[in-house]
Amino acid sequence: MQTADRLSQIPPYLFVTLRNKINKARSEGVDVISLGVGDPVDPTPQSVIDELCRQAQIPINHQYPIDEEKGMLAFRQEIANWYRKRYGVELSPEGEVVGLIGSKEGCHHFVLGVANPGDVVLMTSPGYPGYRASIYMGNAEPYEMPILESNHYLPDFDKIPPAIVKRSKAMFLNYPNNPTGACATREFFSKAVEFAKTHDIAICHDNPYSEVVFDSQERLSFLSVPGAKDVGIELNSLSKPYNMTGWRIGMAMGNRQIIAALCKVKENTDSGIFNAIQYAGITALQKEDANIPKMLDIYYRRRKLVLETFEKIGLGFQPQKGTFYLWIPVPKGMTSIDFTTLLFEKAAVVVAAGTAYGLYGEGYVRISLTVPDNRLAEAMERVKKVF
Ligand SMILES: Cc1ncc(COP(=O)(O)O)c(C=O)c1O
Repeated sequence: MQTADRLSQIPPYLFVTLRNKINKARSEGVDVISLGVGDPVDPTPQSVIDELCRQAQIPINHQYPIDEEKGMLAFRQEIANWYRKRYGVELSPEGEVVGLIGSKEGCHHFVLGVANPGDVVLMTSPGYPGYRASIYMGNAEPYEMPILESNHYLPDFDKIPPAIVKRSKAMFLNYPNNPTGACATREFFSKAVEFAKTHDIAICHDNPYSEVVFDSQERLSFLSVPGAKDVGIELNSLSKPYNMTGWRIGMAMGNRQIIAALCKVKENTDSGIFNAIQYAGITALQKEDANIPKMLDIYYRRRKLVLETFEKIGLGFQPQKGTFYLWIPVPKGMTSIDFTTLLFEKAAVVVAAGTAYGLYGEGYVRISLTVPDNRLAEAMERVKKVF
């Protein structure tokens, strides 16, 4: 069977490759500790679980979701309240907000909604691998804008070749950034708005780590910058702030035309989110803000442990202020793959090679802090013994 060419353009999904490697070693009896994947192990708040169970008993919720692809009005209203309260952004639940089956779904449907085959879609490198996949699935062409430490991991729009800018229809941005942990500034977002206006480019700011910031870093929505709604949307998600990755629930907000395009794609592909999950989502947004500082305390403690360990082994580095990832420069003379292989073979510790996130990820590895404390402590003990 010949499958579609577009699939062969997409490199194997990083985490599938990692999972295969881990499973093989485990089947041989190795006690592997994976710091590769960003998937919180801490539980979803109990009130959210209780609400799901309650709503799952109600027969009307077993039918197609209320308001189908848009998400139910009560959920959209709660998203608007959350955005007002946490980021000072005003949104109309009618036309400026849509529920998503996770932010990943939004990335994919954004491309289908705004780009034509052959259009260029700009993305950052290193960057979340899902953007490249979504761009290829939409038969568009990715262009990797380097984000380098020397520029605070922000892209320099002036360095994009004019011929590429001319063909560009859309752009993915993501701050706090996976994998680097870097946060953006209002000034940068304003520059992005200006660039998008000048060149008629639709922006998708993917913001699932908006709440995961440290050291007094400001929590920031792209939509809080003047003019942002004229050129783009923001995606967000309940996955990270409420430990709900498996529930598949998120949201897109902003420019009405892009939101309408997203809805049209969704209307013809999925039919929205299970009602009971949307009700549980409302509970999370309404009642579980206290979960966020608790979550941040856990990541802060784990972050400190990794920073201290790398300092002790002579590989100390300055961390960025966002996400539950640490983006760590590899020792001099080694590549990202050399370093991940060393840690895997000598310590049975899995970290993600920077190159899995694009060309400009070379020279780094990414560690995720979403593992239980005792496993992280054990991993750090093993890493110390390698050096
Ligand atoms: C930058 C980025 N965007 C989107 C996602 C997917 O999030 P969701 O669970 O909301 O689909 C992730 C998951 O790790 C991510 O890192």
